[in-house]
Amino acid sequence: MIQLDLPEVLQIDSSNLSAWGISLFKQQLTNKHSFHFVVRSRQTNELLAFICGHVIADEAEIHKIAVAPDWQRHGIASHLLHHVLESLQIPTIFLELRASNSAARNLYETFNFSSCGLRKKYYSSPPEDAIIMRLQQH
Ligand SMILES: CC(C)(COP(=O)(O)OP(=O)(O)OC[C@H]1O[C@@H](n2cnc3c(N)ncnc32)[C@H](O)[C@@H]1OP(=O)(O)O)[C@@H](O)C(=O)NCCC(=O)NCCS
Repeated sequence: MIQLDLPEVLQIDSSNLSAWGISLFKQQLTNKHSFHFVVRSRQTNELLAFICGHVIADEAEIHKIAVAPDWQRHGIASHLLHHVLESLQIPTIFLELRASNSAARNLYETFNFSSCGLRKKYYSSPPEDAIIMRLQQH
């Protein structure tokens, strides 16, 4: 992900609950602990998906993964997650998601993430609990 990707990243993110503003994405681009990748269409160069997070010592956290609505269910998020897990080689990875987000939960479970905690009413607009998931790779 580079600065020029941000308009399309924001566009994809805007259709999700808990969308970020541009400043949070810019922080991702400048933070030396962060990782961020995008997927673009070979045919049209359209930005189809992105993932971002950070690594500190032997732990990583995935902050966001999102796929453009028209491109969901084509294995793109799985491809991004594979790429991140392969390239980071980090033993412990955390993430959190809205309790109602069964698409994301199913995705993470296919990668062997398991639920390890609950943050009550963590999200707003609408208020919702956060499920914390962890993948222990080694
Ligand atoms: C969650 C999300 C990233 C999945 O992206 P995707 O590219 O469609 O996912 P994939 O095609 O790689 O799907 C992999 C598996 O995840 C699960 N899954 C994905 N979308 C699903 C859905 N809508 N309902 C149920 N399970 C789903 C399935 O197990 C799927 O495997 P299958 O297609 O063989 O059944 C996408 O729905 C999205 O961008 N949602 C909005 C943003 C979001 O909620 N991000 C997560 C925040 S924590």
